[in-house]
Amino acid sequence: MCGIIGIVGQDTVADRLIEGLKRLEYRGYDSSGIAVLKDSKLLRSRAKGKIIALQSRLQSHPIDGNIGIAHTRWATHGAPTENNAHPHFAGTVGVVHNGIIENFTALRESFKGQREFVTETDTEVVAHLIDHEITLGAEPIEAFRKTLKKLSGAFALGIIIDGLDGHIYAARRGSPLAIGLGDGENYIGSDAIALASLSRDIIYLEEGDWAVITQHKIDIFDADDNPVVRPVTHTSGSLAAAKKGNYRHYMLKEIHEQPETVGHALTHYIDAFNHQAVSLEGLDFKDVSRLTIIACGTASYAGHVAKYWFEQIAELPCEIDIASEFRYRRPALDTKGMALAVSQSGETADTLAALRYCQSKGLKTGALVNVMTSTMAREADVALPINAGPEIGVASTKAFTAQLTSLLALSILAARQRGVIDEAREVELCSELTQVPRLVSEALLLDEDIQVLAQDLSKATSAFYLGRGALFPLALEGALKLKEISYIHAEGYAAGELKHGPIALIEEGTPVIVLAPHDELFEKTISNMQEVASRGARVILITDPEGALAAGHMADSVLISPACAMQTAPIVLSVAIQLLAYHTAVLLGTDVDQPRNLAKSVTVE
Ligand code: AGP
Repeated sequence: MCGIIGIVGQDTVADRLIEGLKRLEYRGYDSSGIAVLKDSKLLRSRAKGKIIALQSRLQSHPIDGNIGIAHTRWATHGAPTENNAHPHFAGTVGVVHNGIIENFTALRESFKGQREFVTETDTEVVAHLIDHEITLGAEPIEAFRKTLKKLSGAFALGIIIDGLDGHIYAARRGSPLAIGLGDGENYIGSDAIALASLSRDIIYLEEGDWAVITQHKIDIFDADDNPVVRPVTHTSGSLAAAKKGNYRHYMLKEIHEQPETVGHALTHYIDAFNHQAVSLEGLDFKDVSRLTIIACGTASYAGHVAKYWFEQIAELPCEIDIASEFRYRRPALDTKGMALAVSQSGETADTLAALRYCQSKGLKTGALVNVMTSTMAREADVALPINAGPEIGVASTKAFTAQLTSLLALSILAARQRGVIDEAREVELCSELTQVPRLVSEALLLDEDIQVLAQDLSKATSAFYLGRGALFPLALEGALKLKEISYIHAEGYAAGELKHGPIALIEEGTPVIVLAPHDELFEKTISNMQEVASRGARVILITDPEGALAAGHMADSVLISPACAMQTAPIVLSVAIQLLAYHTAVLLGTDVDQPRNLAKSVTVE
């Protein structure tokens, strides 16, 4: 994640921008920069490394003004260099950006020969697009509006324009952006933390919103360019409260962070310029005979989904086992195999012990973790980040989808290294993966529908989740999410397995959540759905538009998740099962962020 802050004020802004960046440093700090308008001229200062490097640059070469934008970067496209640091300029336009512009290569191509690009970033093209429209005679607000229509992806933007004193343009699509209200000045920030020292009155832009902010006026427009009024939230001003932003729970905030965090996971593993999997030092699947994934809980379900990808995409034999069983069953391991521990914390005792067991048997070991300073990261031969940022909610959400994203990217890398896919197939797989931040952002729009479904589900005493193929482990994860935060008993099952006994549990009104995107297993899963429906089950079908058309009428309720490639469906459908568990738990009044009996990291056996 990157951090954005901007001020359109009465007083000079440089020091306050730096103060805001320091609060945002948790979002990324491989480079930073600020841009100000001074006598209507754009000025900029940037530095590689942490904010302190920018501060010392400003001491020796100060810039200031009454309006400015600033950015602390976690590199996605382009190395963490000063030249790639934000703000990016093109002509009269300065931009700061958080997220991913999915179609930036095509947009850059559209300027081929007309405009010179000086960075490797996706962001720079936004500045060129706005500047291009202005040079064609468009008013800045029209130039901004037209540019937004051309962008695809999940992003937040802050823009200032040469010669246009007193205006900041801002937009939010998939990555959060807030507006802070001041006395004779106004602000933008990635979250309430950035704004905590500037304002306690916050407007959270909604999905697709864009805004024009001046010292005394804030005009907000929705995705269809209709003027809208968004509520002002008065925050307590405490940093702790600010960290939750306008979310009631950390879990909800982390569910909504997923367009950003999935974006950060994939950009570590996918070269978005060339749509190829990035080769990683110390990781070569070419001679790996078998991949053994070990993990616990939600992480084990991510590993279980990945089994399908490694075998179907990379043709690599893959087993997944829960760590507490693996280490005691004396598994028959092949020394030419590789073990991959999957763990958000990197400290889970059972997973760590299983990793050490594999090392003792001579296997090459990897650890896919969210904490790169964790024990597993330090002890494994290869430490692999998921870059989800701190996950506070005990129920894992953004780490799960970041694990899935990373694992899918690794399976594409393995397929290339093992020579089982050609370049065209690699480009296709990577392109589909790069769309996931946007698709996750669209899936979040199911929230209101899900709140309605949660009303009934919260009255249930038990529930079933069904899925086939890679959606089977997602059914296991959906059941775990519901169990661990709402305390309603739930079971995830392979849809084809129910008729071998468990269907005896189905009775009138039993809630059954069926995960069935319109893939090659769709018809079979729908048959299983009809088996339970005919026995009185209350069926919630989670599918895509094509699936809803084909079988929506057979279910009591349908959630239509965005259409996506078969292999990315487990990531995109995660949002619906997370929100369903969350809203059910909220209705039941449980402690969503710290459910009873649980701990965020189980460091005991
Ligand atoms: C996730 O919702 C659970 N709280 C739990 O299953 C968790 O995934 C498991 O304990 C593994 O933790 P780790 O990823 O830190 O190893």
